[in-house]
Amino acid sequence: MTELARAVELLRAGAVIGLPTETVYGLAADIAQPEAVRSVFSIKGRPSGHPLIVHLLDESWLGRYCTGELARARRLAQAFWPGPLTMILPRDPSQVSDLVTGGLDTVAVRVPGHPVALEVIRGLGRPVAAPSANRFGGVSPTTRQHVLADLGSDVPLVLDGGACGIGLESTIVDLSRERAYLLRPGYVTREQISEILGEPVLDDDGYGPAAPGTLESHYAPAARVVLSEASQVWELARALARRSKVGVLALLGTTPPADLDVELYEVRGGLEAAAHELYAGLRELDALGCEVIVSPVPALQGIGVALVDRLGRAAAPRSSSF
Ligand code: TXA
Ligand code: MG
Repeated sequence: MTELARAVELLRAGAVIGLPTETVYGLAADIAQPEAVRSVFSIKGRPSGHPLIVHLLDESWLGRYCTGELARARRLAQAFWPGPLTMILPRDPSQVSDLVTGGLDTVAVRVPGHPVALEVIRGLGRPVAAPSANRFGGVSPTTRQHVLADLGSDVPLVLDGGACGIGLESTIVDLSRERAYLLRPGYVTREQISEILGEPVLDDDGYGPAAPGTLESHYAPAARVVLSEASQVWELARALARRSKVGVLALLGTTPPADLDVELYEVRGGLEAAAHELYAGLRELDALGCEVIVSPVPALQGIGVALVDRLGRAAAPRSSSF
């Protein structure tokens, strides 16, 4: 039996598996099996009020799982699916359970832009509910190895889809209200969505239900993360290295002074390369035992907006450490 056929069989039997997507790896369950969905929450250590993303095969499934006026959603789907855009829409409660949405009347849906994920959904004949395949609050996985390191003992199979092409979680836009709101920035930008919709995409006003990604501390490695102006990175790293083991996430391709004693994770290329490598870099510097990770703040353009968002959450104070 191929790995793909085994994955489908496991999902049918109510198991939870690791699944590659173009953004990050997911922890997937058949949305129609409550016990399987419950396992996703328990394996991840995620509070049950925090809703999951439902992954569809294609745009034609929108009307099966969502209700209400879908014209705006269809326009975005045509422009960006398969791809890294998640839409929040009113759910059809006969198809999407309370368990998946944490009791909300809305559901998050997207069509992943990864052939392995699509083949699994096609084989199952139903959507999979999948959060990122990391423990709650931790760094999202962008390789099969990352998933195995975090959750390998808790899942029977992690499919291999290579390193995720994008490397940051999908953009989330809320279309369940009259106006459109950006709940999480990602590879698809606010400007791109706004252009297709022909209306502004507003900042989340906190009126709708909070998304867990919006908790202050999230995407956090074990090390403390300190952000710096690009021009100050080496100076700051030198000062911190007097007291702690320091890692530098050299996202923007500058070279360190020769006499500096720090661990280095270098990324060559622009903002897209930085997005692709961010989580791998945080994980590697953690694994090297760094107590502090210093990173430059990328420019707020294109995927830089999402990078700054994730770095900011990784650097936010941890309530659990109080
Ligand atoms: O790229 C991605 O979106 C990845 C891959 C696996 O598809 N998934 C992912 O899932 O990042 P997760 O669970 O880590 O993040 C899902 C986000 C959370 O912030 C959650 O609160 C929000 O989606 N969300 C889900 N359903 C929602 C709803 N009905 N209303 C508002 N936010 C919702
Ligand atoms: Mg996540």
